[in-house]
Amino acid sequence: MKFSRFGILVIGSLLVVVVGISFIHFQREQTALRDDLNRRARVISKSLAPPAIRILKNPPAIDEEDVAERLEGQGRTIGLMICNLEGKPIALSSTLTDTVTCNDEVMATLESGKESILLDEIGGQSLHRLILPLKDRTGSLLGTLTIVHDSSYITKRVTSAVTWMTLSLAILAIVIALGTYLASRRSFQRSVTQLLDWMKSSKSAEDLPPPTESLLRPVSREVEKLTARLRAAKETAKEVSEANRVSNLWTGARLKGHATFSIGNKSLIVVSNREPYMHVKKEGKQRVIIPASGLVTALDPVLRATSGIWIAHGSGEEDRDFVNSEDKILVPPESPLYTLRRIWLTREEEERYYYGFSNEAVWPLCHLTHHRPHFEEKDWQSYIKVNEKFADAVLQECGKDQPFVLVQDYHFTLLPKLIRERRPDAVVGLFWHIPWPTPESFQICPWKREILEGMLGANFVGFHLQSYCNNFLDTVNSLLPVRIDWDRPGILHNEGLTTVKPFPIGVQLWSERGVASDERFREKANMWRKELELNAKRLIVSVDRLDYTKGIPERIGAIDRFLEKYPAHRGKVVFVQLAAPSRVHIPRYREFVTEVEGLVEQINWRHGTEDWKPILFLKSHHDPETVYTFLRMADVCIISSLSDGMNLVAKEFVAAREKGDGVLILSEFTGAAREFQDALQINPYARADFAEVIRVAIEMPMEEQKKRMSRMKAQVIEHNVYGWAANLITEMTQTVEVGISSRQDFQTSKYL
Ligand code: F6P
Repeated sequence: MKFSRFGILVIGSLLVVVVGISFIHFQREQTALRDDLNRRARVISKSLAPPAIRILKNPPAIDEEDVAERLEGQGRTIGLMICNLEGKPIALSSTLTDTVTCNDEVMATLESGKESILLDEIGGQSLHRLILPLKDRTGSLLGTLTIVHDSSYITKRVTSAVTWMTLSLAILAIVIALGTYLASRRSFQRSVTQLLDWMKSSKSAEDLPPPTESLLRPVSREVEKLTARLRAAKETAKEVSEANRVSNLWTGARLKGHATFSIGNKSLIVVSNREPYMHVKKEGKQRVIIPASGLVTALDPVLRATSGIWIAHGSGEEDRDFVNSEDKILVPPESPLYTLRRIWLTREEEERYYYGFSNEAVWPLCHLTHHRPHFEEKDWQSYIKVNEKFADAVLQECGKDQPFVLVQDYHFTLLPKLIRERRPDAVVGLFWHIPWPTPESFQICPWKREILEGMLGANFVGFHLQSYCNNFLDTVNSLLPVRIDWDRPGILHNEGLTTVKPFPIGVQLWSERGVASDERFREKANMWRKELELNAKRLIVSVDRLDYTKGIPERIGAIDRFLEKYPAHRGKVVFVQLAAPSRVHIPRYREFVTEVEGLVEQINWRHGTEDWKPILFLKSHHDPETVYTFLRMADVCIISSLSDGMNLVAKEFVAAREKGDGVLILSEFTGAAREFQDALQINPYARADFAEVIRVAIEMPMEEQKKRMSRMKAQVIEHNVYGWAANLITEMTQTVEVGISSRQDFQTSKYL
C-alpha cells in the first residue's frame, strides 16, 4: 500500500499537533510540580523559622541532629542552611557541605528582605532552594534560612509523563491517520468503481445513472460530454459506413449500368441447357413454371438487369406454342425484360446429349458420390451435335460487333471452341456450376482431351471455388501440352490464353422476387400448417431436386437416429422435404426416387403415431413462393449434399430469414460451406454426428441463432448474384484488354 502525499501531510500535521500538545503539557506539569515544591519548602521554612531565629540570636553551633530530625518526613528535602548577616553559615546540614554556601543569592535576599526561590544545578545535582529572610519581633534582619530540596524528580516526572503522553498521542494520530486513509481510499475506490461502471455502461445499451458523489461530479460531467460526442461520432461513422455499404452493394440497376459501361451496345448472350421459363401442361392447362435450378435462380435476375439474350433448350411440352418465328419469346412473360431463344432438340438428342452424356457421364464424373459414370459413344456424338446446334444459334445472334458470350455449365464444354473458331473476336466465358474433380478422377473420361480443348476456347473459365480451379488447372496440365501461368492464374495454349478464376455465385434477395410480403407469407404459412397438420410443431425443412448427389437418404437416416436417440422430440418435430423430380428418364434417378420414398415410409412407420408423421415428403415441382414460405417457416434447414458446386438453397434459406433466426445445417461438401462458417457443418456420411447436430440445431438458443444468422445474412446480402454477374462481366472486358486472343498473338507473346 502506498501513502499518497495527502497521507503524509495528514500524518505530519497530526505529529505537529502532538508535539505542540506535549510541549504545553510539559510546561504545565513542570510549573505544577514546582509550585508544589515551593509550597512544601515554604511550609518547612515556616516551621523551621522560629528555631532558626533562636539559633541566630543565640549562636551556639547548630544542632544538626536536631534540625535533621525536624526535617524527617519532609520528602525530598536534602537539608538546610542558616546564614547570619555577615554571610557566614551558622548551621549547615552535612548533606550540603559540598554544595551550598552563604553566597551571593543569600546576600541578595538579605538585601531585599524578601524570600527568594532558586532552581538550578549545583555540583551535578538539580536543587531547589528557598531562602527565607529571618527577622526578630522588631522586624530587624537576623540572617537567612535556606531550605534545600532535590528537584531532579520534577524533570523525571515531567519527562516520563510527557513521553507517555506523546507516545499515546502519536499512536492515536497514526491510528486516526491510517483509519482515515483506509476509509477515504475505500470510499474513493467505490466512487471510482461507480464512475467506471457508469462509463462502461455508457458504451453499451444499458445506461446507468451517473455517479452522485460530489467529488466525481465534475469528472462524470466531462465524461458525459465526451461520451455524447463519441456517440455522435459513432452514429455518423455508422451512417457513413452503412451508406458506403449500401452504395457498394450490387443491385440490378447497378449491374445494368456496369454492363452498359463495360460492353456498351454489344450483345450479351447467355447459353444454358435449362431455360428460365418453361411452358408446360398442368391439369389440362398451359402454364409457365420456373424450373428448380440454381443456374436459373442466379441468371434470371442478371438477364433482367442487362436485357441480353438467353439461348436454352426449349424443354417444356408447350414451349413451341409461345415462341415467334425466330423461336424467341420475351420473358418474364408477365413483364418482359429480355429475350429467350428456345433451341429444339429431338427426342434422341435429348436422350443422348442431355440424359446420356451430360447427366450420366459428366455429372457423376464431376461429383464425388461414387456413382459410376456411363460413357456411350453415341451419347458423345449427340453431345457434339447439340453443341454445334447451339453454336449455330449463338453465331446467329452475334451481330457485327464484338460479341460477349457467357456459356453455362457442363452441357456445353465444346461450345467455346466452336464459337471462337468462327468468331475469333468473340469474348467467351464459361461458368462451371458443379465441382471439378481431381485429374485422376477426370482422366477416366474417354473424350477428356476433346472436352478440355473445347473449354479452352473460352477466354476465361469460372468455378465457384479456388479448389475447383486448382483441380481444373492440374487436369489440363496433366492432359494437354500447355503451360500454366500459376500467378494469373491461366492456361497458355495454342489458341491463346484462358484465365481460370473462382466466382462464388450468390442469390437475389427474396424481396426482389415479389414473393416476400409478410401478409402473403402468413396466409401461405397458415394454409400449409393447416393442410399438413403441422400445428405448433418445430419444422425442419429441406429443398432439393431429387438427385443422388443431394444426400437425401443420409439426411433421412440422420433424422431416424435423432428420433431414436432423443425420444423426447418425438411428436414435436416434423421434417418436411420439398423434392422436385429431376432427370426422370435416367434409371438411376428413378431408382433413387423409389429408394427415398421407401426410406420415408420406413421411418414414418417406425416412429410415427396416429396423429404424427415425422417425415412429410412433398414430391412436386414447387414454385418460388412455396419454397420461400417453407424456408421462412422452418426452424432448421438441412442441406446434406454429398458433393455440390455451391448449393443456392443454403443461401436462399438465409435470405428468407426475415427475423434473423433459424439454424442452417450444411454439408461440408458444398461450395456454400466455405462461406458459411456459422452454419452447423456436417459430414452427411457420419450419421451419429449428423443426428447429434440435428439435436443441437433444434435446441439452439435464440440468441445464438440470431448471432450466427446475422453474419450469414450479411454475407448473402454483400455477395449477391448481381455482384457475381458484375465480376464475370469485368473479367470478360479485362480479357479483351489482355489481348492474347488468337494463335498468332499467343505465338508472339512473352509467354513463349
Ligand atoms: O446445380 C447444377 C445444375 O446443373 C445447374 O446448373 C442446373 O440448373 C441444375 O443442376 C438442374 O439441372 P437440370 O437442368 O438437369 O434439371
